[in-house]
Amino acid sequence: DLSPIDKAKFVAARRACDYVETGMTLGLGTGSTAAWLVRCLGEMVRDDGLRIKGVPTSTRTAELARDVGIEVISLDEAKWLDLTIDGADEYDGALNLIKGGGGALLQEKIVATASDRMVVIADVSKKVETLGAFPLPIEVIPFGWQTSKVLVEEALIGLDVMGSNATLRMNGQSPFVTDEGNHILDLHLNRIGNARQLALVLNQIPGVVENGLFIDICDIVVTGYADGRVEVHD
Ligand code: A5P
Repeated sequence: DLSPIDKAKFVAARRACDYVETGMTLGLGTGSTAAWLVRCLGEMVRDDGLRIKGVPTSTRTAELARDVGIEVISLDEAKWLDLTIDGADEYDGALNLIKGGGGALLQEKIVATASDRMVVIADVSKKVETLGAFPLPIEVIPFGWQTSKVLVEEALIGLDVMGSNATLRMNGQSPFVTDEGNHILDLHLNRIGNARQLALVLNQIPGVVENGLFIDICDIVVTGYADGRVEVHD
């Protein structure tokens, strides 16, 4: 018996499995919704003879994929992927995204960009009119992160955003560390008027490795509802 939110995530994940065909190399996303997908794919491998290779976007997803019997390969082994399926923290009407709530945005963006198609799976709470209520994750290298934080906040002056406060993501008493050994700044903007411009500006700042805005990367969003309905946006 699933909670309403898990039911919504599950039905979106299950529906996204319709895009998967035998022989594909797939990017496997990170987060609680993507975990449902990996479990569904594991069942298809075990019960339906589906043959796939998976490129995970985090150590967490790699572990789960192996546990459920999916053959895991690295992005360098795969080089190019047929399809990536991943969750998101927010998506808008143009299918632009905020990702990185789980801290895996860097690998997620590389893997999604290296794919013919990206399908996002999400419960309907992730749907927004304008991106930015969810704090925007920015991956920064540990060296001089406080300087990077100041540079990020200064770079926002004059941009179409509401707010400019960046906070260092913590894991208990210590800074959160990503799979690539970096830190995350969460940028509290409330509203991002021009996501494309912001993404470009942020990635110009020394010390910033990547930001959680996915612009023109996602092709399809599968939205799940707690009553079991799904909607496909493309
Ligand atoms: C991981 O870094 C994120 O990009 C996730 O895709 C995002 O946080 C969605 O996670 P949930 O599916 O758990 O909401």
